[in-house]
Amino acid sequence: MPIITFSLSSTAAAKVKADLLGVPIYAGRVLGPGAKAVDSALGGGLADFMAEAGFEGKADETLAVPAGGLGAKAAVLIGLGERKKVTLETLRRAAAALVRKGSKAKVVATTLLDAAPAGIDRSAVASALAEGAALGNYKFLRYKQKPEPSAIEQFVVLGRKEPGLDAALQRGAAIAGAVAWARDLVNEPAGALTPTVLAEEAARAAEAGGLSIEVLDEVAIANEGLGGLLGVSLGSEQPPRLIKLTYEPEGKAKGIVALVGKGITFDSGGLSLKPAEGMETMKTDMSGAAAVIGAMSVLRQAGVKAKVIAFVPTTENMPGGRAIKPGDVLKIRNGKTVEVLNTDAEGRLILADGLSLAAEEHPDAVIDLATLTGACMVALGLKVAGLMGNDDTWVGQVRAAAERAGESVWPLPLPQEYRKDLDSEIADLKNITGNRYGGALTAALFLAEFTGDVPWAHLDIAGPARAPSDDGYVAKGGTGFGVRTLVELLAGFEKPKPNKA
Ligand code: BES
Ligand code: MN
Ligand code: ZN
Repeated sequence: MPIITFSLSSTAAAKVKADLLGVPIYAGRVLGPGAKAVDSALGGGLADFMAEAGFEGKADETLAVPAGGLGAKAAVLIGLGERKKVTLETLRRAAAALVRKGSKAKVVATTLLDAAPAGIDRSAVASALAEGAALGNYKFLRYKQKPEPSAIEQFVVLGRKEPGLDAALQRGAAIAGAVAWARDLVNEPAGALTPTVLAEEAARAAEAGGLSIEVLDEVAIANEGLGGLLGVSLGSEQPPRLIKLTYEPEGKAKGIVALVGKGITFDSGGLSLKPAEGMETMKTDMSGAAAVIGAMSVLRQAGVKAKVIAFVPTTENMPGGRAIKPGDVLKIRNGKTVEVLNTDAEGRLILADGLSLAAEEHPDAVIDLATLTGACMVALGLKVAGLMGNDDTWVGQVRAAAERAGESVWPLPLPQEYRKDLDSEIADLKNITGNRYGGALTAALFLAEFTGDVPWAHLDIAGPARAPSDDGYVAKGGTGFGVRTLVELLAGFEKPKPNKA
């Protein structure tokens, strides 16, 4: 991704030297901050210009206008909808709309900083603008013979300077960088991003983010009793890896949080083979891992005060000659045995090992992210992640963090009355229930068997991990969903008071 430099400037909108100036307009063509300058440059003709173009100032609308006597070479109006309904999310989207419009400009300036209604913190707005602009500028171009990156080099936020504002802008940019990193990992083809390569990428993240890293190879995975991960890997020529990243804050840690991310670099289904269409996007099946690695890379910059330990089990799920067969029994790290009746329900097998390892650290809380079930997509669609867990307080903290970060999650239940559907005739558990109903919930009930007594939350990101088209600051393809929620959650981490669901 071309890196944008973000800066603040108190220059007036009329005077700022930029290739493109973006100014907000509210619903009903109400002029936002800086729009007066554009109107004056047009000799007072802005209202007519908007009316003629059918531009109303609705959210996500944009309209190029003549720059006239402005210092900027070109100008664009950005619709925000009703002023009192403007949120941080509106502003992220607005910043993205601006950079998409201005992709040929080198220097883009905007007056969006003062567009939010009173009561929204200006620092939060600055972060949101940087996130929206940086993410709206994202493209995955590695495999294009003639890549056409956007030209944007500088994004100048106009407005009165205040202490902390520049830091907020840089924080937003850093978080967006972590999301972009996660998107790159997801967009990388599975032929290139093998488990070994994912572990190398994690090592780069560790280097960049001041983390320590340990990687278990296939021999160590077997020796450590990670039977789920080892079992799933058997059908593949590519060896599995278990990646452990540790973030130690400066000074005394305010609690310990463990993260677990599903790292299936390609899910063919194994011997319970998926149909061809079902496999097309299965390089996405390591999105939980990508979110965890991306978030870990930026914790130091985000000033996280808790110790954070991340576990990423990673393997392909393939139907090779040594593949596990339906009916095989695997022994997970925590000692429980699992009868694998469907090799395509593999995510829960590797997460079982990851969660067991996490529980051994006795953290204050654990959260896992996984593209776990098609059923969750049926329930919540392509934009909303399912949120489950065994502790209402912790689940509530995750939900609030997602809300603040601008990522959509919705709680789903963990109904104990379905637990018996996972009883196996010959082992402690089986990995499917035998019916499709409530598949996201029964998958989560399976995971709950491996969390010990640690407060645990689970995000099923099968839907939002991949976007079918560009939308706001999300680009078609891997979305990096979860990075922003994790950073927000960890930045505000407080030890949860136990409150068993
Ligand atoms: N990785 C898939 C889930 C998935 C499907 C994610 C589609 C994104 C898009 C997972 O490993 C899987 O195959 N789950 C099965 C479970 C079933 C066999 C119980 C599913 O959801 O069909
Ligand atoms: Mn699968
Ligand atoms: Zn999978």
